[in-house]
Amino acid sequence: MAAIDTDEDDFEVDAEDLDNTPVAESDSERLSLLVNDLHVTYRVFGAKKVGHGPAKKQTALQKFLSRGASQQGVREVKAVRGISFSARHGESIGIIGVNGSGKSTLLRAIAGLIPPASGSVYVAGDPALLGVNAVLMGDLSGERNIMIGGLALGLTQQQVKDRYQDVVDFAEIGEFVNLPMKSYSSGMGARLRFAISASAVPDILMIDEALSTGDAGFRAKSKARINEVRESAGTVFLVSHSLATVKSMCERVLWVHKGQLVMDGPADEVCKHYKKFVNETKKLAEERAAEK
Ligand SMILES: Nc1ncnc2c1ncn2[C@@H]1O[C@H](COP(=O)(O)OP(=O)(O)OP(=O)(O)O)[C@@H](O)[C@H]1O
Ligand SMILES: [Mg+2]
Repeated sequence: MAAIDTDEDDFEVDAEDLDNTPVAESDSERLSLLVNDLHVTYRVFGAKKVGHGPAKKQTALQKFLSRGASQQGVREVKAVRGISFSARHGESIGIIGVNGSGKSTLLRAIAGLIPPASGSVYVAGDPALLGVNAVLMGDLSGERNIMIGGLALGLTQQQVKDRYQDVVDFAEIGEFVNLPMKSYSSGMGARLRFAISASAVPDILMIDEALSTGDAGFRAKSKARINEVRESAGTVFLVSHSLATVKSMCERVLWVHKGQLVMDGPADEVCKHYKKFVNETKKLAEERAAEK
């Protein structure tokens, strides 16, 4: 796939144009995802008082009113700025980039959890199968979260019950399943989230960093699970800071920087360029520090 022109800053593509644009005929059947000039902007409300403490719940009306009140302090963060790519069934795609480059935001937008400022995301299959993390709640037990997550993935209650023990076993959390998720170590939380998202065979499986927190045994199981999804013609996205993990699990990699796609190509090639970039940036920073 060709690298995307990252200099382009076109905010004017609209969805209607795309509907009439046939995707390359021979490939259209195998496309699972089409991301077209996607822009995602966060609105950060200034440190102004919004009138609630962390433990206090607000009604929808209170939230609405307090949003209006803090409108002056709004700052926009353009987290994704014009990303386009397509993915096919059976593909496993790594997403790499430095901290804050927009990887998680891109995944969340693909999952439909945050609306794009402009551009579009077309998903073949059921978008409800995406992004289980958003619905899980730290105050609830692992057991309750397995149910909530399973339902969010489109499973029936009975299906979740049938798969419950498999999820607990896969996550290796044992008795902790009865405790609130917020009491889990980050590795345990990541394992449970992954086990829940793997309890259905989704059209698109998205993994954000989860694997880097697991031990070797868990990584091997995750890898097997990823292969299963791919064999059932799903698409896998894997965000990770470990280039070794990305290279071992993905044949294709997207490199995201400052919300734009710098490179899209074979894993080895993209990782090589990214590594060079990271090393050069590090060297520059060291030189600057030495000058001071
Ligand atoms: N909920 C949010 N509200 C406001 N800004 C956000 C929010 N989430 C992320 N951002 C900002 O959007 C940009 C992209 O963040 P994102 O989390 O997508 O990066 P990332 O590539 O996943 O980083 P990391 O490697 O650290 O996980 C950053 O500038 C970040 O500060
Ligand atoms: Mg992230």
